[in-house]
Amino acid sequence: MKSYLNSLLIVLPLALIVAPSLAWGGDAAAGAIIFNANCASCHGVSGKGDGPVGAALTPAPRDFTIGDFSFDPDDNGTKGEDSDLRAVIKNGAMKFGGSPLMAPWPTLSDGQVGDIIAHIRSLKAEDGAEESAAE
Ligand code: HEC
Repeated sequence: MKSYLNSLLIVLPLALIVAPSLAWGGDAAAGAIIFNANCASCHGVSGKGDGPVGAALTPAPRDFTIGDFSFDPDDNGTKGEDSDLRAVIKNGAMKFGGSPLMAPWPTLSDGQVGDIIAHIRSLKAEDGAEESAAE
């Protein structure tokens, strides 16, 4: 009984540390599936903005391998935060002064958008940036 209590004391704090990070961090693999089905026609499977539709667009779809973003929907002075990308994906870019071609995606759930954002971040990380992978 005593050892049971001891292990509970060890496991419980660990669970409290691990659980929130699982809940908040998007699942990049799940996001890749949604991205490839809905976004890659413009943004390209690689994220370079060179999908079959995207290649012909002006302005070009954002190149996610660079990881440089244009919009700051929450107006806090930093573009391209998760909350900013979330707002652009949900509401479309036009609402924030961008192209209507980046249409709103209101049918995606918050969880799906989080997964997509994790995937978008990983497209840059593959280019050698380690900081976004560590987030
Ligand atoms: C019809 C083509 C098209 C599709 C499909 C599309 N996008 Fe875009 N996307 C664009 C274009 C064009 C821009 C650039 C808009 C601008 O600069 O005004 C853009 C920009 C973005 C940005 C950049 C926001 C910023 O602050 O720079 C994100 C993030 C984004 N798209 C995510 C997505 C996601 C996620 C999907 C799928 C759910 C998607 N897009 C589907 C064309 C598209």
